[in-house]
Amino acid sequence: MPDTVFILNGPNLNLLGTREPDVYGARTLKDIETDCRAAATRLGLSVDFRQSNHEGTLVDWIQEAGRTAKGLVINPGAYTHTSVALHDAIKGARIPTVEVHLSNIFAREAFRHHSYVSPVALGVICGLGPTGYVLALEALAGPAAS
Ligand code: DQA
Repeated sequence: MPDTVFILNGPNLNLLGTREPDVYGARTLKDIETDCRAAATRLGLSVDFRQSNHEGTLVDWIQEAGRTAKGLVINPGAYTHTSVALHDAIKGARIPTVEVHLSNIFAREAFRHHSYVSPVALGVICGLGPTGYVLALEALAGPAAS
């Protein structure tokens, strides 16, 4: 049984493809999941790919990842900029975590420049679109995460 990486997506990411395509691109979350599954197969990993619009559900899933997964990839959406609860959950999970954003949050509004997740992440990838998810999986399969 290969090691599992949880890939968690926060609020509004279910709307990818139609949501602000000039910012987030034309690809859907299902397309990104397909890319992640192909990368995981290549890397000898298994992925558990989920999305929720609810902060508490994301906390529950991060705790579950801490009990069962080798690592975590998370695009926390807007909760990036607001959620002490996600910060605490990731810290408590004690598994290598990569924070991913499709857009370059530092090239956008000032309120997106602060992340509660970054201080508890192994690394942060932003601005590279869906490729960021694949790069995060590669990082978790490599020496930086062991
Ligand atoms: C996002 C960036 C966040 O600021 C925003 O609230 C999102 C998506 C991204 O992937 O670029 O919902 O996390």
